[in-house]
Amino acid sequence: MESNYKNIIKNAYKSASLIKDEGKIATYIPELANVNPEMFGVHITKTDGTNYGEGNNLEKFSIQSIVKVLSLSLAYKILGEQLWERVDVEPSGAKFDSLLLLETNKGIPRNPFINAGAIVICDVLISNLGDAKVEFLAYVRELSGLPTLTYSDKIADSEKATGYRNVALCNFIKSFGNIKNEPSEVLDFYFDMCSLEMSCKELSYTFTFLANKGKTLEGKKILKKSKCKRINALMLTCGFYDESGEFAFKVGLPGKSGVGGGIVALYPNNFAIAVWSPKLNPHGNSYKGMHLLEEVTTHSELSIF
Ligand code: DON
Repeated sequence: MESNYKNIIKNAYKSASLIKDEGKIATYIPELANVNPEMFGVHITKTDGTNYGEGNNLEKFSIQSIVKVLSLSLAYKILGEQLWERVDVEPSGAKFDSLLLLETNKGIPRNPFINAGAIVICDVLISNLGDAKVEFLAYVRELSGLPTLTYSDKIADSEKATGYRNVALCNFIKSFGNIKNEPSEVLDFYFDMCSLEMSCKELSYTFTFLANKGKTLEGKKILKKSKCKRINALMLTCGFYDESGEFAFKVGLPGKSGVGGGIVALYPNNFAIAVWSPKLNPHGNSYKGMHLLEEVTTHSELSIF
């Protein structure tokens, strides 16, 4: 991989491009339905700063659930191990927006990446920051090196008008006492957070701190090494909802998907990679993206296994 990583990416991109008409674009957030389903891009950023992209890797897209890794990292940085009193660290084996396990677990979400868990993380950030929306955005700007990054009103408003399941989740968790702020405030922040737009190049760059023992490529320490280890473990076990086992099985890297068709994955001490193709498989994960990443780890032999 050291010298021929560009060829590996090029060939994996070519191979995944041959997949025709598989998967469906997400439409439950109306604004996402306006994206060109044929977009396809990939970008890899190595921890030495070298990077390479193919296809629509410079085009911005809605990162959706990928942002949940960044919100978790900020909440974990602030609360430390106390955070796990509010959210568990177990795979859910259920869909990303499932309400089922909350009843048996008395309002403690199974992990921070299902919607229920990410909503609790938003509540934690609101309780611990002055202005959560502003400070979280500043945090992502710092990680991404993008000083003008902003929430997308178009996408956030579209989800705010239709996100009934998330409203139900937040109120249900509140009924168990695991949401401390007003549900409307928590949801408003959650929808804004999910509306961030980045390109594959920007995303792979942003996620290098988790492959780089908590340091950005500029050398700024964001998170302790031990905390990176735990976040990466959560991505491996819970990053793809009820397809997390399949992703570990086929790709073998910590990663996180979003319903906009993006996937980020990383190989500790080596690289972060982002791929985007809006057509999703039945589990809500990018069809071509999964295929491309499987090709990359197969041919580079760089999976954590
Ligand atoms: O809450 C939602 O449904 C979306 N904002 C995010 C869901 C998502 O990205 C699931 N990922 N595959």
